[in-house]
Amino acid sequence: MRHQGAAEARTGDNAAAVDIDARHELADADRNLRSGRAGKQAVSAAGPPQGAIGSPSGGSAATTGASVGAQQHRAAGPPQGAIGSPSGGSAAATAASVGAQQNASAFGYVDGELRVEAVPFAQIAARFGTPCYVYSRAALEGAFRNFDAAFADLPHLVCYAMKANSNLAVLNLLARAGSGFDIVSGGELARALAAGGDPAKIVFSGVGKTAEEMEAALAAGILCFNVESEAELGLLDTVAAKVGKVAPISFRVNPDVDPRTHPYISTGLKESKFGIAYADAPALYRRASALAHVGVHGIDCHIGSQVTDLSAYIEAAEKMFDLADRIEADGIALAHIDLGGGLGIRYRDEETIDPYEYALAVRRARGARTHRLLFEPGRFLIGHAGVLLTRVLYLKPGETRDFAIVDAAMNDLIRPALYAAWHPVDPVRPRSDPPRRWQLVGPVCESGDFLAQDRDLALVAGDLLAVRAAGAYGFVMSSNYNSRPRACEVIVDGDRVHLVRPRETLADLFARETTLR
Ligand SMILES: Cc1ncc(COP(=O)(O)O)c(C=O)c1O
Repeated sequence: MRHQGAAEARTGDNAAAVDIDARHELADADRNLRSGRAGKQAVSAAGPPQGAIGSPSGGSAATTGASVGAQQHRAAGPPQGAIGSPSGGSAAATAASVGAQQNASAFGYVDGELRVEAVPFAQIAARFGTPCYVYSRAALEGAFRNFDAAFADLPHLVCYAMKANSNLAVLNLLARAGSGFDIVSGGELARALAAGGDPAKIVFSGVGKTAEEMEAALAAGILCFNVESEAELGLLDTVAAKVGKVAPISFRVNPDVDPRTHPYISTGLKESKFGIAYADAPALYRRASALAHVGVHGIDCHIGSQVTDLSAYIEAAEKMFDLADRIEADGIALAHIDLGGGLGIRYRDEETIDPYEYALAVRRARGARTHRLLFEPGRFLIGHAGVLLTRVLYLKPGETRDFAIVDAAMNDLIRPALYAAWHPVDPVRPRSDPPRRWQLVGPVCESGDFLAQDRDLALVAGDLLAVRAAGAYGFVMSSNYNSRPRACEVIVDGDRVHLVRPRETLADLFARETTLR
């Protein structure tokens, strides 16, 4: 974890900024004391290093009360072996102690088997079958608190980017925790409202909003439309006039900052389809402020997803604050500045950004400005709270590579095939036999159908595997390809397991289709 943010704060050249930072650090220290956390280092950016979460290869797993306390604000992921590894000798953590660590890490080995909170994964598989998405309530709420608390002393609103995972129960838990929502479609609006989301905390992003979607959002009374083009502005004004309303807007501005992430999830570069050009913003704001059915509320950007480089965020924030000054110099007041989402998580060995570091950097870029700040994290809140539980169907040693064919496939989790994404995979009941190098592949008829490659595991057909860090962009991107029913989803809360979406049936697959008469 990098800590240059805190160090710079202490030697900063701007007295006011240092003051604010110092106060923040005091508040931080106070929170640490109350939570038993040792210091800033204890705040994880939602993710363990490789093999952490009670990895079977994790060395000493002696989980102590102190280490539990010290990890309370961790979004989801302690240092290696923190919760207890099956090989970890004194790692006999009890179910009760796992419950006590809900804010520390929700996933860990107890008596040689992987659990989520107080529930063994094997029990979930026996009850609900596989493949199955398993979420931890504690990890989700812990990640939200971790992010939200980092900005506690600034006027702010977290709008969860629900494209990451839009299960109603997930949305409802976040709404209850105080979260707003970043939506990108009429379907997401309907879900957010059905889940108890507060329309006054909803922002609507997306380059292709239709008139119907605009009407629905106006009827709901959302906080803001993040307008992505001049053409969209024109349509929104017309639609709002038709229904006799004034549409609250921000422009999503493209700050032309390279987030240094996968090209498919870079959104803030000049060549991207998203947002309006930075140079065009002042003129468009003047145009918008002259329209009768549009009211300017803010300014918005989103540079990309899985961002692990703090300097990209700093550059974008500085550009946005500068632009806000120029727009306000034209006599157009802005109530909020939306800095988007994208905070990365650790899948393998990425150096991620601690939300407290991010908050320090934003505070510094903000200076004396007083706008409410909006954030749109998705992956950071739910990524480490979810696991895709799957079972080994067959072992198929090959001429050059050995395949373990599992019952989850690219239709369940497309990230490895789409982005060459790497997910940690842990056995639910690790074996002591020597490991072998496996390609973990699914039953779909595509060579690109793999969940993980070159993993050293001791496997037997029938074994259960946990594909970790699968809470974000997992189920939501799943499909029925190869006519495979989509997996079920459960949320674990302590020792209780809630089925929040049943597995689709074969009849569901074609229930809405008809043949020609
Ligand atoms: C406009 C917008 N906001 C927020 C997000 C959330 O990104 P992440 O899940 O990486 O935080 C996205 C995702 O691409 C997005 O397009």
